[in-house]
Amino acid sequence: MVPADTTAAWQALTDHHAALRDSSLRSLFEADSARADRMTLQVGDLTVDFSKHRITDETLALLIALAEETGVASHRDAMFAGDEINSTEGRSVLHTALRSADPVVVDGDDVVPEVRQVLDRMGVVADRIRAGEWLGATGKPITAVVNIGIGGSDLGPLMATRALRHLMPVELQIRFVSNIDGAQLDAALTGLDPETTLFVVASKTFTTIETMTNARSARSWLLAGLGEGAGTGGGAIARHFVALSTNAEGVAEFGIDTANMFEFWDWVGGRYSVDAAIGFSVMCGIGAAGFDEFLAGFRTVDQHFRTQPLAENVPVLAGLIGIWYRNFFGWQAHAVLPYTQALERFPAYLQQLDMESNGKQTLRSGEPVSYDTGPVVWGEPGTNGQHAFYQLLHQGTTPVPCDFIGFLEPEPAVVPGLDRAVHHRLLFANMVAQSEALAFGKTSAEVRADGVGDDLVSHRTFPGNRPSTVITAPALTASVLGQLIALYEHRVFTQGAVWGINSFDQWGVELGKVLATRVGNELADGLDDGPAHDPSTQALIERFRTHNE
Ligand code: F6P
Repeated sequence: MVPADTTAAWQALTDHHAALRDSSLRSLFEADSARADRMTLQVGDLTVDFSKHRITDETLALLIALAEETGVASHRDAMFAGDEINSTEGRSVLHTALRSADPVVVDGDDVVPEVRQVLDRMGVVADRIRAGEWLGATGKPITAVVNIGIGGSDLGPLMATRALRHLMPVELQIRFVSNIDGAQLDAALTGLDPETTLFVVASKTFTTIETMTNARSARSWLLAGLGEGAGTGGGAIARHFVALSTNAEGVAEFGIDTANMFEFWDWVGGRYSVDAAIGFSVMCGIGAAGFDEFLAGFRTVDQHFRTQPLAENVPVLAGLIGIWYRNFFGWQAHAVLPYTQALERFPAYLQQLDMESNGKQTLRSGEPVSYDTGPVVWGEPGTNGQHAFYQLLHQGTTPVPCDFIGFLEPEPAVVPGLDRAVHHRLLFANMVAQSEALAFGKTSAEVRADGVGDDLVSHRTFPGNRPSTVITAPALTASVLGQLIALYEHRVFTQGAVWGINSFDQWGVELGKVLATRVGNELADGLDDGPAHDPSTQALIERFRTHNE
């Protein structure tokens, strides 16, 4: 592993940045009428337009050289081969095996048949639920699925069930509970009937405090609601609880029959697990066949990432362009702006994928990094974001590179009689317009030409030169969603590989968890044998205890 800033390409990019810093997207487009064509690439159904970036052919060549010098391709091959690239946890990183059509050997065994076997078991249950054949303890069909999980055990399935709602039976409710705040469980259970509700306890470790607390409360609610004589106890849990986990012991201890557990493996990171058993609630929505299409989408992009030369490799280029802005322009944020309400949780999903993976300050060697790593990732669906934070995108002092994601056609309407075409035209128009406005802005001369008085010209001038990628696809299908997720997974991978960090651990979340457990115990019983808290923490603990005495 070579620290990125010790490479010849890094130095060349530093010099190149000094030369290119002041050039504009306007001039780049004027100089090259074929730019949009040349810089638009295809991967599967995704058309990815990189032309509105502050890059030239030379920039791309230098970024590719950086990828070569930092060993992106060999690190990628090591991941696909099952090497233990998650070095701090001694694990392989094989989410790609979850959708592989080819054998993937881990410790001498091909894991793909086992992956398929779990998917098939999930498919039988999911399709029985959809067909009204999975009956609760009192003999009624399940009409509501409540996924209890947090982080990767929530964000992926929540995002995907929202995204693919148009492919799901309207009569099946799929709800999500993640927060330890009982308000969310309360809201999720509102209006549900215990007799027709199935809980899906999703937790890789089956120890996460939020999930286990919510699952225990859900179990009490269920047993109280079913009442005596209605198949309560073990029988009721077997019909109303399913577990998704790597921890069979923990699942059994909770009281869930391991026959109702869909397992996955420690070589699947939580934030990379929506295509593993953690996707069960998605499968309940779109069925086993729909889930296969979803996996096929991932596979298309995996294949591209694995085989295309770096210079034509869409996730690699997306990652490298992000590095160009983060490390050479020094920009701190990255916005993801889906122009479909269906992807309303996609930015939140990517927040975990990107920030938990690449929010790191230590090289894989254990040395501190000497350059910036992962940016702040955020976003909202267009056009809502336009009426909230786009002001800063257009006229704020620091540019934010944006990803626009749009579709040529809307999802089919769920409600009969609703014509979505007119909405969709305007939605798509807004996306195109925003990308154009960010890139080309409006000069003071153009503002004056509109008849604006001198006192307002500077206020109404748009600097432009703000970069974006525009990703389009014909429609939001299960396969296209899989393609989009895999595109971002491999983008994150590329950046982590260049930065020389381990994108697959998350030690940064541990300290808060340990302290929360300790403080929680103190609030419950007042006992604490740990080191003294700081005065501010101590005061907060006292205030809570006094208030609740
Ligand atoms: O605390 C972070 C984290 O470990 C995430 O990486 C993970 O997705 C989440 O917690 C939930 O973990 P689990 O699936 O084990 O409950």
